[in-house]
Amino acid sequence: MNINIIAAIAENRAIGYKNRLLYSISEDMQRFKALTTGHTIIMGRKTFESLPHGALPHRRNIVLSRKSRLLDGCEVANSLDEALQLCKVYNEKEVFIIGGAEVYRQAIGKANRLYLTEIKSVPDKADSYFPDYSKWKIIHKEDHTTYSFSELIPPDTSKTSESSSSSSDSHSKGRSTIGS
Ligand SMILES: NC(=O)c1ccc[n+]([C@@H]2O[C@H](COP(=O)([O-])OP(=O)(O)OC[C@H]3O[C@@H](n4cnc5c(N)ncnc54)[C@H](OP(=O)(O)O)[C@@H]3O)[C@@H](O)[C@H]2O)c1
Repeated sequence: MNINIIAAIAENRAIGYKNRLLYSISEDMQRFKALTTGHTIIMGRKTFESLPHGALPHRRNIVLSRKSRLLDGCEVANSLDEALQLCKVYNEKEVFIIGGAEVYRQAIGKANRLYLTEIKSVPDKADSYFPDYSKWKIIHKEDHTTYSFSELIPPDTSKTSESSSSSSDSHSKGRSTIGS
């Protein structure tokens, strides 16, 4: 099972402010949708609450919370390991960790691939940050004027995803963060 992280980050690794995204880039939303549709997404409870229309359609939504909750259209897991176990039970091939900061911090040590939208800007204000990924290796980069789409594999290449050798797979095409 490939554990993918997808995020849109500013130059200072900022990802959010007051439980909102910092930027709205339609190409980023499209890439997010293309990559995650048909797969399982795992998110923190705060990120779930930030979604304007609740659970994202055509994806299995798993929300992490330490409290028992009933969330429409979602499964709730009490830990990241429990969420990943729920994925393994159903033999998922691709799982996407979609944030937020607390969840990215826990997941980055388990991930096989980062799909980043690196925005060429620093926001005036931010309170949530992506963890340090400076040691990850870029395997694909698509540069645009105000942002770039990047795919990275871990410094420990033994964690390289099953599909990383195939640049023709659907996840390698830079098609790319939180959208419907
Ligand atoms: N730029 C991007 O790509 C991107 C993507 C996603 C989110 N964001 C931004 O990130 C910010 C939110 O991030 P955040 O760090 O504040 O919150 P978060 O990671 O979305 O959610 C944190 C919550 O998740 C639950 N949780 C986390 N780890 C858990 C674990 N191991 N076991 C069980 N539950 C766990 C807890 O919920 P309970 O309190 O219910 O126990 C915790 O309070 C927002 O500004 C959002 O817009 C940005």
